[in-house]
Amino acid sequence: MNAVSGQAMAGMTRLEELKQSTRSAHQSVDDMVMAMEPFDSRDNYLRFLRLQHIFHGRMKSLYAAADLNDAIPGLAERSRYDAVCADMTDLGYDADEDWSRMPINADGAERVGWLYVCEGSSLGAAFLLKAADKIGLHAQFGARHLAGHVEGRGKYWREFAEQVNGLALDAKDEQAVRDGAVNAFAFFRGLAAPQPSV
Ligand code: HEM
Repeated sequence: MNAVSGQAMAGMTRLEELKQSTRSAHQSVDDMVMAMEPFDSRDNYLRFLRLQHIFHGRMKSLYAAADLNDAIPGLAERSRYDAVCADMTDLGYDADEDWSRMPINADGAERVGWLYVCEGSSLGAAFLLKAADKIGLHAQFGARHLAGHVEGRGKYWREFAEQVNGLALDAKDEQAVRDGAVNAFAFFRGLAAPQPSV
C-alpha cells in the first residue's frame, strides 16, 4: 500500500464505491443509534457515548499505526478518542478503558476500511451535535467528539477522502478495504448487545 496513485472503479472513486456498498450497513447503524433515543436524556446519551468510547478506543491503534500514517499523513491527529474521553469526564464518568473486550482484528488494507467508517462518522456527527443541544451538550461540553474540525468538517473529510482515494491498491487490497468497512459497521452494531453497567 502506498500513496502513489488511485484506481477509479466503474467511474466512481474508491470512497464513492465504499459509500454505495455500505449504504444499508450505515442505515442499520443509524437506525440502531436513533432507537437508543440518545438525545432524549443525558442517561440515554451516555449509553451512546459508551459505544463511541469503545469504538474510538479500539480504533486508536489503527490511527497510530506507523505504516498507515506514512500512507495517510496526519492520520494520528484525526483520532477522536481523547474527545470522547473528555465528554465522559464532562458528564462525570470514568473514561478508563477496559482493553480486554472486543479488540479489532484487522490488518493490512482492511484497516483502511475501518478508518473510512470511523472518519465518515464525523459527517453524520453534524446532525447529532445539533440534536445534543436539546440536552445541554455542545462542542465544548459533553459532545466534543461530535464537533467539526476547525478547518471545517467538509474540508477535513475531503482531505481524508483524497488521501484514501489516492492509495495505490491491488485488487486483493481493494477487497480488503471493503471488507474492513463492512466489518467496522458490524462491529459498531455488535456494540448494541447488552453492555456491563456504565
Ligand atoms: C444516528 C446516528 C447517525 C446518523 C443520523 C448518521 C447520519 C449520517 C449522514 C446524514 C451522513 C452524510 C453526511 C454528509 O454527506 O454530509 C453520514 C455519513 C457517514 N456516516 Fe453516519 N450517521 C450516524 C451514525 C453513524 C455511525 C455510528 C457510523 C460509524 C460507526 C457512521 C458512519 C458514517 C460514514 C462512514 C459516513 C460517510 C459516508 C460517505 O460519505 O462516504 N454513521 N451519516
